[in-house]
Amino acid sequence: MEQTIRNFFLLLSKSKKLTKLAKRYGLRFGAARFVAGETIDEAVSVIKKLNEQGLKVTIDYLGEFVESEAEVDHAAAQCIKAIHLIHKERLDSEISLKLTSMGLDISEDLALHHMRRILEEAEKYSVFVTIDMEDYKRCSKTIKLFKQLKNEYEHVGTVLQAYLYRTESDVRELDAYAPKLRLVKGAYKEAADVAFPDKEDVDENFKNIIGLHLLNGHYTAVATHDERIIQYAKEFVKKHGISMNQFEFQMLYGIRSERQVQLVAEQYKMRVYVPYGTDWYGYFMRRLAERPANVAFVLKGIVKK
Ligand code: FDA
Repeated sequence: MEQTIRNFFLLLSKSKKLTKLAKRYGLRFGAARFVAGETIDEAVSVIKKLNEQGLKVTIDYLGEFVESEAEVDHAAAQCIKAIHLIHKERLDSEISLKLTSMGLDISEDLALHHMRRILEEAEKYSVFVTIDMEDYKRCSKTIKLFKQLKNEYEHVGTVLQAYLYRTESDVRELDAYAPKLRLVKGAYKEAADVAFPDKEDVDENFKNIIGLHLLNGHYTAVATHDERIIQYAKEFVKKHGISMNQFEFQMLYGIRSERQVQLVAEQYKMRVYVPYGTDWYGYFMRRLAERPANVAFVLKGIVKK
């Protein structure tokens, strides 16, 4: 049953029609629990509150299925605006973005052009930029463009997903680039010929790649809400004498907020992924797919209205 609900929401997340429709209606159906607001000013006030609690942030201007060059240009301008605001307001924040919002589906050259615009500003103000990992279809292209950009810029990293069979070899291959990587379980619906179908195998591979990247000596963001993985990472760094400055935990805005603050109290670096913007639909559907209990929370919200 849980798997059916999960697949249903992952399917919904890919609907271009619903993505467009949702944009017109503002943050609805409980999406505000996971999205910091529709404007950057709303996001900035959320970031300030998180920073006051000792939480670091990575801000994400939401955008998927971007089809026109004008939309891409707008998304890149939003990222640059975010970098300038981080500097001006002295926020403890990085930025995250998706290559499809930079025009990857239109052409690789377009995505590279906009990434260079953003990374020029990022280098100027020392703001780190993480390239999110999208579905399997875009994985090879994302890694290819990341490598190219990492050869040109310092302040750029990317995400690898534990559910893909290829990820262990990607971690090994990227070792030569000394990358700062965010490691996650993976949020898209993928076929069994490219991704582990069983949760236990994903969790084992997650532990495996966390260990591998840390022992390669590179900065590792362990991005999860799973307490068993958090405990594993804590024990691993202790056992191998890995410095507190070589890793951090990351979670999504609105999920396990109390645990986020607790990890700060335990002296760990903790970063919250804060999305904002009108294009919240796909992001919200993936959060619902991750946890059927969230669906009950949404239904309660609709009934109350
Ligand atoms: P898991 O799904 O097993 O959840 C463990 C526990 O966490 C649950 O039992 C529950 O208590 C809590 N939990 C998890 N999800 C919840 C939710 N939605 N609502 C409420 N509670 C929840 N994916 C991707 O494919 N590409 C990417 O670029 C990114 N980027 C990214 C950045 C950051 C900072 C994070 C934290 C995550 C991502 N992800 C991602 C998403 C990731 O792949 C994964 O889908 C989610 O983090 C959920 O997996 P967990 O590791 O939390 O474990």
